[in-house]
Amino acid sequence: MKERVLTGYRPTGKLHLGHWFGNLQNMLALQDQYDAFYFVADWHALTSEWQNPADIARYTEEMVLDWVAAGLDPERCVIYRQSDIPEVAELLLYFNMVTPMSWLERTPSYKEQQQQISDKDLSNVGFFTYPALQTADIVIMEANLVPVGEDQLPHIELGREIVRRFNNTYDAGKRGLVEPKALLAKSGDKDAGARVPGSDGRKMSKSYGNAIFISDSPDEIRKKAMGFMTDPARMQLSDPGDPDICVLHQVHKLVGDPTAIETWEECCRNASCGCVPHKKEFAEDLITYLADFQAKRVELDQRPGFAREVLEAGAAKARPIAQATIERCRSLVGLA
Ligand code: TRP
Repeated sequence: MKERVLTGYRPTGKLHLGHWFGNLQNMLALQDQYDAFYFVADWHALTSEWQNPADIARYTEEMVLDWVAAGLDPERCVIYRQSDIPEVAELLLYFNMVTPMSWLERTPSYKEQQQQISDKDLSNVGFFTYPALQTADIVIMEANLVPVGEDQLPHIELGREIVRRFNNTYDAGKRGLVEPKALLAKSGDKDAGARVPGSDGRKMSKSYGNAIFISDSPDEIRKKAMGFMTDPARMQLSDPGDPDICVLHQVHKLVGDPTAIETWEECCRNASCGCVPHKKEFAEDLITYLADFQAKRVELDQRPGFAREVLEAGAAKARPIAQATIERCRSLVGLA
């Protein structure tokens, strides 16, 4: 029996290269190695977008289309939507009983987001219990492995503590809930878990305005490529550059042909090529790299109801598992 991995993403916007290399390539690799469960976390989106939820449903469907066009296969992994599994909400309720408020107050991401995000009201209870909801997502499907980036580790650790407390309180020697573990992308995996810089060198992010979206048209890509930072010390063509600190080059490496990449490194170091042609080639390489995906994505867009079908089929596979877990919880808690 394969081990079960599970991960989810909030449908709050279009996917960019940071998601593509940081998460999606890893999800693709895992769908064959594991019993993989991938879900769209629309309730998690609601914790921060509750005043403005209009786009969540659309982004949910777009996320499904992006996933499938990128190569996730609904026959080989389970793709579903969080809110189609109401048992998750019931499990959250039990978790809310055993979770001390101080554990949630201490979560680093909670404090950070509260401080950093000023255009949204995050002082609601729903956002406060975000990590407990995330734990319910994982535990309801009895997943033992959660592929996450390092920034999510505190959430997984907190989740393990919640499960332990639940089991200690109610288990009394019976089969308790499964304690999840983080599955960090191996550094040797090609591209998996890669941190992708945006045009300004900071982590690629929609809110920094430095992102290339995987749905960007060739012309948008060409325009954005021109805005990428290169080695700032290289003012003129005759200045030798350092490709290791060239932001453009870091992203080009992910999509370019390895021999061509080496050539760009050499000519940058010995000042025999300019950054503008490098940007142009990067743009063309990225356009080629994304072409198959984008063609498939357009094709799926023309199939009305396709995303809904994928989500319904996924929910049909996920719900029996969720129902079995929740039955067990009710009996562990002593309500059934
Ligand atoms: N917190 C994750 C994010 O913001 C989304 C998420 C919700 C998740 N539930 C999860 C990830 C369960 C892994 C497992 O992207």
